[in-house]
Amino acid sequence: YGVPGTSKERTFIAVKPDGVQRGLISDIIARFERRGYKLVGMKLLVPSQALAREHYADLSSKPFFAGLVDYMTNGKAPVVGMVWEGPSVIKQGRIMLGATDPKAAGPGTIRGDYCLTIGRNICHGSDSAESAQKEISLWFGGKGEVVDWTSNNEEWI
Ligand code: TYD
Repeated sequence: YGVPGTSKERTFIAVKPDGVQRGLISDIIARFERRGYKLVGMKLLVPSQALAREHYADLSSKPFFAGLVDYMTNGKAPVVGMVWEGPSVIKQGRIMLGATDPKAAGPGTIRGDYCLTIGRNICHGSDSAESAQKEISLWFGGKGEVVDWTSNNEEWI
């Protein structure tokens, strides 16, 4: 799950089905790569209802929960789940995504640049070290699915 507070900190970032449908996978990956973060896990999948419900368990009492789970799981497009590693990646990842409601997201952020509606905000990022650990273990169970590797760029970033 990485080591929060160090250069090995890790977060879970996802391109949601609307981001995939709209062809924004590459842009979202590019922003994290160019910033200097390291991709250590990536998969394309239609999440099960059980996975989506567990991922959003904190929101299970909200009126939008059923719609949120359906949007994530109905298979109209898959989700790209990723693990990114680097200094302050949890906090910086959230800043790069922008505010949950795209109407409040600043220009230059992913949501501020590409979307308008809270229920179609194209991306997800863990909001704390605890969430990152929970989400990485939920989405990346299998051995070897998250890869430790050394980037030759590290001394330049
Ligand atoms: P939340 O965890 O509050 O935000 P974030 O994704 O920024 O961590 O909410 C999860 C998702 O639920 C959010 O990305 C979009 C959806 N959502 C709604 O559809 N309506 C709402 O009013 C809220 C708060 C969230």
